[in-house]
Amino acid sequence: MIFTVAIDGPAAAGKGTIGRAVAARFGFRHLDTGLLYRAVGVQGGDPAQAARDLSPGDLARDDLRTLEAGQAASRVAALPEVRAALVDFQRRFARSEGGAVLDGRDIGTVICPEAEVKLYVTASPEVRAHRRWLEVGGDEARVLAEVKERDARDMGRADAPLRPAEDAVVIDTSEMGIDEAVELACAIVSTRLGGRD
Ligand code: C5P
Repeated sequence: MIFTVAIDGPAAAGKGTIGRAVAARFGFRHLDTGLLYRAVGVQGGDPAQAARDLSPGDLARDDLRTLEAGQAASRVAALPEVRAALVDFQRRFARSEGGAVLDGRDIGTVICPEAEVKLYVTASPEVRAHRRWLEVGGDEARVLAEVKERDARDMGRADAPLRPAEDAVVIDTSEMGIDEAVELACAIVSTRLGGRD
């Protein structure tokens, strides 16, 4: 069975948690596509070359979750050569046998416009910054500034800007617990799976 769940949205909206939970519930594979851009961003040197040479070992580095890696990722993610180098791997993953969940910024719009389910998971910048701050600590105002800076870069870039696909279901997690958001996402996937029989 080929079945793709595309989950897009800004940083710290809950995409990753929802993606992992949906994948576990339905036995699908899961790809956090932000890790690809983070791994390229922290590499240094020529980003396009780093994207072409990316290996599974690069995705296992333990410094990919930092704020700095997120900023570096969003800078290299604005380069069309970098995005182009990562497309095939993501498309193959999305359409691989057995079902796949991908979370990122352009999954429903560019990587897999034919995805059976498209979700756009979002929340206010303040709520997202607070969640990220609980994970990374430090100065909350600085975390909020970083979140807003990254949003502006991801939404404003010319190539594959962050925006909901026209047929995406928007899930706003500003005032919704993560369990509720997961149940909503699973219900949408379940309905779509049922409709295929
Ligand atoms: O999701 P995460 O915060 O790990 O993503 C890091 C950065 O990578 C994002 O801010 C964005 O610039 C970039 N990205 C992207 N397209 C994706 C996934 C991530 O441009 N599909």
